[in-house]
Amino acid sequence: MSDVVLEVKDLHTYFELEEGTLKAVNGVSFAIKKNRTLGIVGESGCGKSVTAQSIMRITPKKTSSVSGQIMLHHDFGAIDIAQLDEDGDQMRDLRGREIAMIFQEPMTAFSPVHTVGNQIMEALFVHGETDKKTARKRAIALLDEVGIPAPERRIDEYPFQLSGGMRQRSMIAMAIILNPRLLIADEPTTALDVTIQAQILRLMKRLQRDNGMAIMFITHDLGVIANMADDVAVMYLGKIVEFGSLHQIFKEPKHPYTKGLLRSIPKFGETDGKHLATIKGTVPVPLNPPDACPFASRCSEFIPGKCDARMPDAVTISPGHTVNCVLYEPTNIQT
Ligand SMILES: Nc1ncnc2c1ncn2[C@@H]1O[C@H](COP(=O)(O)OP(=O)(O)OP(=O)(O)O)[C@@H](O)[C@H]1O
Ligand SMILES: [Mg+2]
Repeated sequence: MSDVVLEVKDLHTYFELEEGTLKAVNGVSFAIKKNRTLGIVGESGCGKSVTAQSIMRITPKKTSSVSGQIMLHHDFGAIDIAQLDEDGDQMRDLRGREIAMIFQEPMTAFSPVHTVGNQIMEALFVHGETDKKTARKRAIALLDEVGIPAPERRIDEYPFQLSGGMRQRSMIAMAIILNPRLLIADEPTTALDVTIQAQILRLMKRLQRDNGMAIMFITHDLGVIANMADDVAVMYLGKIVEFGSLHQIFKEPKHPYTKGLLRSIPKFGETDGKHLATIKGTVPVPLNPPDACPFASRCSEFIPGKCDARMPDAVTISPGHTVNCVLYEPTNIQT
């Protein structure tokens, strides 16, 4: 039996704006297995969060459209989330119980006017738990598990009474209380200082070891990816331009964009930030994008007539490692 929990195939998420069609996610495919962490990296605006929101089916109903397949696999078969009504019972049931999400800013997940405990317990009530005492017991046990001191007291506090790190832990508790099979983490530690960040990352790894969750971990911080991911998808302008194991992406990067991202992380011992290479320019807005390599406008290896002519095919470099770049297409390899 395959361990694949989520399989995304040719996902497109478009926003219809007055100016035209914004192709935030433009043909993305990947799979995540039980017990594994897929890291998604890319600069701001590449479509990482919209990919996550599409899987949760929480993109704005009026202006967005989601197409392609988002297969959630079970022992007894698979459900295509892309086909579900985002407000329907089935999707509501999957959210939280099967797929849960944690955000960069816990206040987006918590309501300020209810206690942390009531919000964590609410998830249990929505999904069928009826006994208040049992729910409270489970919530306290979970707050304890995620490292909240004096959980029997903290459970009755409001989110604003907790420190940033505590709020993040509480949000993780709320996300995992129903033992989801897939946890989506969208920049979960970006707002935290490094010590708390390390604690939260350790906590997520431990929870994964205990529960066998598949994790989709979104960040623009390659240092965090190196620490967390088994596989890495490098996203640029709504597309995955390179995919591989952590080792393949960090040690044998192929795409000029991946190489650029890696050059922009400080190396241990090099404190002089001045010499850090950055990729010139910024990510454009994908409004009516041309059918070409999305990175063409910023690439140092740009080949006129090729890179701007069409989207390069995926080329397999080695098992599990693919890149979409004309430099690696068989007809263009220079010997
Ligand atoms: N609700 C929305 N309506 C219209 N456009 C949107 C909406 N949400 C996102 N976008 C656009 O979709 C593109 C992808 O955005 P997304 O938030 O997924 O980027 P990201 O990779 O998560 O960036 P960051 O690292 O800054 O979080 C951007 O061009 C963004 O402006
Ligand atoms: Mg984002």
